[in-house]
Amino acid sequence: MRHLMSPMDFSVEELDRLLDLAQDIEQNRSRYAHVCDDKRLATLFYEPSTRTRLSFEAAMMNLGGKVLGFSTADSSSAAKGESVADTIRVVSCYADICAMRHPKEGAALVASMASSIPVINAGDGGHQHPTQTLTDLLTIRSLRGEFKGLTIGLCGDLKFGRTVHSLIEALARYEGVRFVLISPEELRIPSYIREDVLDKKHIDYTEVERLEDAIPALDILYMTRVQRERFFNEEDYVRMKDFYILDETKMLLAKKEMLVLHPLPRVNEISVEVDKDPRAAYFRQAQYGVYVRMALILTLLEINV
Ligand code: NCD
Repeated sequence: MRHLMSPMDFSVEELDRLLDLAQDIEQNRSRYAHVCDDKRLATLFYEPSTRTRLSFEAAMMNLGGKVLGFSTADSSSAAKGESVADTIRVVSCYADICAMRHPKEGAALVASMASSIPVINAGDGGHQHPTQTLTDLLTIRSLRGEFKGLTIGLCGDLKFGRTVHSLIEALARYEGVRFVLISPEELRIPSYIREDVLDKKHIDYTEVERLEDAIPALDILYMTRVQRERFFNEEDYVRMKDFYILDETKMLLAKKEMLVLHPLPRVNEISVEVDKDPRAAYFRQAQYGVYVRMALILTLLEINV
């Protein structure tokens, strides 16, 4: 039985196969409409979510399966003091696969060790968010063809932004990918990503503070929200929250074919005027999230169509 805790749980070949499957699903939706007729997905969300939970549920429904779960910790027995390990043991009796989001780093891993069904990490604190990465990879591959040779700028809260951590780990395995890490000093990438991933693998990267300086060289600009819920005090958040605002003026500095991605939700970091720019790909990205989660469910349940 396989779980998904981090994008590193899949080899590059397995990732490529999963993305191929997602693209086939996109093109042949009806072929997959009943392949999970007798399956159930549990969504155990101890932290707020719109896209991740609903796209998982939509994915299972598109495959003909059913969904059950909870969307806040206080509506589950966690409010009575039940451990994640006990919850998953019980949920294993009700469902065939589960997606879990939790504010604590490592919670999904703890769950996977007690589980008799595949567990998908749908975000664990400020650590990892592998299914957002699958979404990001599918978006880039579908809109740009390949990863090789791309210069990818990641901008905003690189410290607490779990989507950034997972995406760098995944992309660092593709040849010729270059990163430009754009953040204020206080929100720089954690050292475990810098040292264990970027330095160790001799990846080409630079760290800069000004988006205006970085944008002209980028093929992909991945914007992120400042992660308010992970700050120790509100004053620091308020000081940081509008550090970057991508607007039409900054877009004038970018390449004609640069793509703007964002895992969403957006707060202020992308001005709504950018939405009509053909380079804005963040809402298309949300759609790709459904196909890739369909592919992931089939892969972990070992269903071949
Ligand atoms: C992200 C998350 O939960 O980490 N959202 C998402 O799943 N699309 C990004 C964020 O909350 O900023």
